[in-house]
Amino acid sequence: MNDATFAGLPIFPVEASTQAVRTDAVFFLEFGISLVILGVVAFLVIGFSIRYRRGSKARRGPLPSLIRSEIEIGWTLGTIFLALFLFWWASATYFSALATPPKAIEIHVLAKQWMWKVEHPDGAREINALHVPVNEPVRLIMTSQDVIHSFFVPAFRMKKDVLPGRATETWFQATRTGTYHLECAEYCGTDHSRMTGSIIVMSPDDYARWQTAQPQADNLAAAGGTLFDMLGCASCHETDGKRAPVLYGLYGRRVKLSTDEIIVADSAYIRDSILQPRKDLVAGYPPIMPSFKGAVSDADLARLVAYIRSLKNSQGYKP
Ligand code: CUA
Repeated sequence: MNDATFAGLPIFPVEASTQAVRTDAVFFLEFGISLVILGVVAFLVIGFSIRYRRGSKARRGPLPSLIRSEIEIGWTLGTIFLALFLFWWASATYFSALATPPKAIEIHVLAKQWMWKVEHPDGAREINALHVPVNEPVRLIMTSQDVIHSFFVPAFRMKKDVLPGRATETWFQATRTGTYHLECAEYCGTDHSRMTGSIIVMSPDDYARWQTAQPQADNLAAAGGTLFDMLGCASCHETDGKRAPVLYGLYGRRVKLSTDEIIVADSAYIRDSILQPRKDLVAGYPPIMPSFKGAVSDADLARLVAYIRSLKNSQGYKP
């Protein structure tokens, strides 16, 4: 990792993700424009104070009429279009950070005072570290066990709050191998400043080697399936779809709610439906499902969601 430094102090983090390049382009353009405006204003302030100092013979009184209106209209329109362009460009950059590419690797992140717990799709777990392959999109589904934290990776120009009782999502695609700082960017208690970790970006070969070296004992979806049976979910969800929606093929599908709203069944929706079943009720079903809030831990929720995601519609159930 090589951050830009000045006299040995890091002043600007390295660009290590696709989003970092986009974010920096906006930043440097806005910074450049600000410098130009600063220069013009400073030049005029200093120039005029010298030219019109007390006792100088410079001509005072009204400007020649030609300069007055044209220049005024020109700079007003010019700055309006500049501001609109900046707004459009910055929003486009921001929105590109929200839409996850569909084939991203999905990683569950659980934040707690004061550590980051990470769970990979194959069940591998890490604490305060996240190993990812270079040049592949990675989606993070995050939640907190206690207070609000914030997942911040300066080299990726990526920051997303991690909230208790709710799943937030974000994604990144690393563009260079190396180890990058992970920080908590929301004050969360005494050891907030020590709630740090590393994102280790690896070449595809190294990543494959790392993956095979991980213990695979607890496959996320398989563990979720055991929980699914233990909690008795199957008694309503796995038969004919009369009492409750069939979950096979649910993930990623559009679902019609009782409010006629259409929602995409992503990980956050599935998670919310386990915790607050009455919030987004599927059209045609009575509100009979109990909430599992407090009954399942965040780690178990991640397992249940992984299990429901893994239910492909190969059983021939009607969605
Ligand atoms: Cu976690 Cu600050």
